[in-house]
Amino acid sequence: MSVATVAIPHETVTEHPVLEGRGLSKRFWVRRGHGPLTRRASLRAVEDVSISLGAGKVVAVVGESGSGKTTVARLLARIITPESGQLLLDGDPVPRRRSRKYAAQVQMVFQDPFASLNPVHRIRYHLVRPLRIHHIDDQDVDTAVDELLRRVALSPPSQFVDKFPHELSGGQRQRVAIARTLAVRPRVLLADEPVSMLDVSVRLGVLNLLADLRDREHMAVLYVTHDIASARYLADRIMVMYAGQVVESSPSVSLTDHPAHPYTQLLLSAAPDPDRMGRPLLVTGGAPPSLLAPPAGCRFHPRCPHAMDICARVAPPSVEIAPAHSATCWLHVDASDRHAPDPEPPAAKRHTNEDLTDLSAGGTGG
Ligand SMILES: Nc1ncnc2c1ncn2[C@@H]1O[C@H](COP(=O)(O)OP(=O)(O)O)[C@@H](O)[C@H]1O
Ligand code: SF4
Ligand SMILES: [Mg+2]
Repeated sequence: MSVATVAIPHETVTEHPVLEGRGLSKRFWVRRGHGPLTRRASLRAVEDVSISLGAGKVVAVVGESGSGKTTVARLLARIITPESGQLLLDGDPVPRRRSRKYAAQVQMVFQDPFASLNPVHRIRYHLVRPLRIHHIDDQDVDTAVDELLRRVALSPPSQFVDKFPHELSGGQRQRVAIARTLAVRPRVLLADEPVSMLDVSVRLGVLNLLADLRDREHMAVLYVTHDIASARYLADRIMVMYAGQVVESSPSVSLTDHPAHPYTQLLLSAAPDPDRMGRPLLVTGGAPPSLLAPPAGCRFHPRCPHAMDICARVAPPSVEIAPAHSATCWLHVDASDRHAPDPEPPAAKRHTNEDLTDLSAGGTGG
């Protein structure tokens, strides 16, 4: 399919987003080399990512390890600040410093439920603390703890409240971690690979819990995962990231039924799907590029079986290929339009390079 070149931002289409990131970019400064040859280099973890999370919707961010998914979640949580781009809560700009009020509205669920719960404290302790911070009266705390446990389907609560984290299964621990985030009554849940460390048998239960929070409590949910099959199961919309950039964004069904970007096709071909017959759509080798010196043009071109001459020279535009479905790939641009865009006048510069935080010590891994 070919359409005219239309540069559009990869955004989730949400009428009244609760939380919105516009053109978010983040670099980390890291050390390269050894001894006297050590020098600082900038790693482009996330570039120009726009995303909006609406009430009662799940948006999945999918990609291989190192593609920038966790960095996007941390930017949205305001744990780190972007070097450029904007964050809006209910349409209002979010201050650069993370306030307690913001933290209560936008909560993060982490990959490893064991690491996020202190092993020396009982479950009651983990839930009472955030409730107190939220000024729940002492006489109401026990009722509030019970209600939290019921909301995450740990019922009857009396069976769990006096246990230590190690006495629970991985799935139950992740439910407690989610209950703890619910204690401060958030409107947005940022779940970073919440099931990837869990036993396969309990993953579905935790995904269904996130679906329940979306459907019954109208929460806005970000679901970060490397597993496109689980994104298809849970999310209303999927954004695919490659090497720090969004390459495709669409309602889940459209993206998985009609993947438009060769990288999305690669992810789908690698995902187990009992419904899909026949050969995988695309099989290609290679690994994601270094973000210290990403390839010129399309970052996927060294791995792409469809790469053309222009792909190695000019970054492709984002093209709307169906309603609310966009892909950043030259394949969707008319052959006659495949050329470098006119250079922008200096006044069109959009962002300033400020606040390049040196966080090189604290990598997050995949
Ligand atoms: N605090 C940090 N300091 C330096 N590099 C980082 C930091 N956090 C993430 N990175 C790097 O940014 C890139 C994206 O990381 P991340 O967002 O964790 O990807 P993902 O969650 O998709 O695996 C990786 O190359 C990672 O090493
Ligand atoms: S722009 Fe070119 S290299 Fe990149 S995904 Fe499309 S065809 Fe492949
Ligand atoms: Mg990650």
